[in-house]
Amino acid sequence: MVWAKASAPGKVILFGEHFVVEDQPAIAIALNLRARVYAEVREKEGIEVYSKNLSLREVFPKEDPKSPLYPIYYAAKSTLSFIGKEKGLYIEVDSEIPPASGMGSSAAVAVATVAAVAASLGFKLDREDISMLAYRAEKIVHGKPSGIDNTISTYGGAIAYRKSEGFLQLEADFSPVMLVLADSGIPRNTGIMVAKVQELRKKYQKIMDPLYYAAGRLAVEAAKMMERGDFEAVGELMMINHGLLSAIGVSNMKLEELVYTARKVGALGAKITGAGGGGFIVALCRRGEEKKVAKELEKVSERVFISDISVEGVIIEDFS
Ligand code: MEV
Repeated sequence: MVWAKASAPGKVILFGEHFVVEDQPAIAIALNLRARVYAEVREKEGIEVYSKNLSLREVFPKEDPKSPLYPIYYAAKSTLSFIGKEKGLYIEVDSEIPPASGMGSSAAVAVATVAAVAASLGFKLDREDISMLAYRAEKIVHGKPSGIDNTISTYGGAIAYRKSEGFLQLEADFSPVMLVLADSGIPRNTGIMVAKVQELRKKYQKIMDPLYYAAGRLAVEAAKMMERGDFEAVGELMMINHGLLSAIGVSNMKLEELVYTARKVGALGAKITGAGGGGFIVALCRRGEEKKVAKELEKVSERVFISDISVEGVIIEDFS
């Protein structure tokens, strides 16, 4: 094989972001926004990476971990070492997932890169290996990732995840609900937010511990409610989770405005999703009510998406 195209979905965390870094359970679902990666084997040495979204092209190796394309190169290089090949590559990335939004764009790009590079060389990696290699690249993007982003992007659907235990695919029927995502317009950096939360946790450990425990219980309860189809309860639990995220310092006026706007027009629940400090909020709506919620959010947000829940994880779309 000489070239392959792979894609992987973005995600939203419905329960447990930040708390998951300290080994509490969390719940994530895949979105129908995808990152697509084309990989082609080349005779000449080096790995050329082109990002359509950033309009940026670079040839590696060059030891510049600050380049936004470096994690993509790193994912490709790790994949080559893993399958024991030394080849030149051309990699092209085209992603529908807004970057720095909390929707797992970097993990989806890493997952799709690993799968495309392996497939371009005629290897079909199993999902466990794809997720593990993507996790290595994620570590470059932000220092202490829990692993939830690469896991959901690899497997798709809805998962309950715990760092020390791995993940469980949730058997839930999401057809009665839809998600609406709204952008705060404030850029944020996951690594910085995670470090900030860790600092607060260290400073007030005795106060923080019960919050972390509550967040974990919340995710377990939410998984049960999802499998039972009780989305009213899921929505309520999202609001409690949002309160905990405010408590650990990752909310702000704009995020609160978006969350309360969604609630006011009938969303079952709404919360920050991802690292917070900016990025998006997610609102859970009864199917049929998503347009109404989205319309109201559009008055206070520049970018609003409607998404279904439960989509395919990483796939090889084409190869030759
Ligand atoms: C980022 O999508 C979610 C965080 O919990 C970080 C992580 O899990 O690695 C904030």
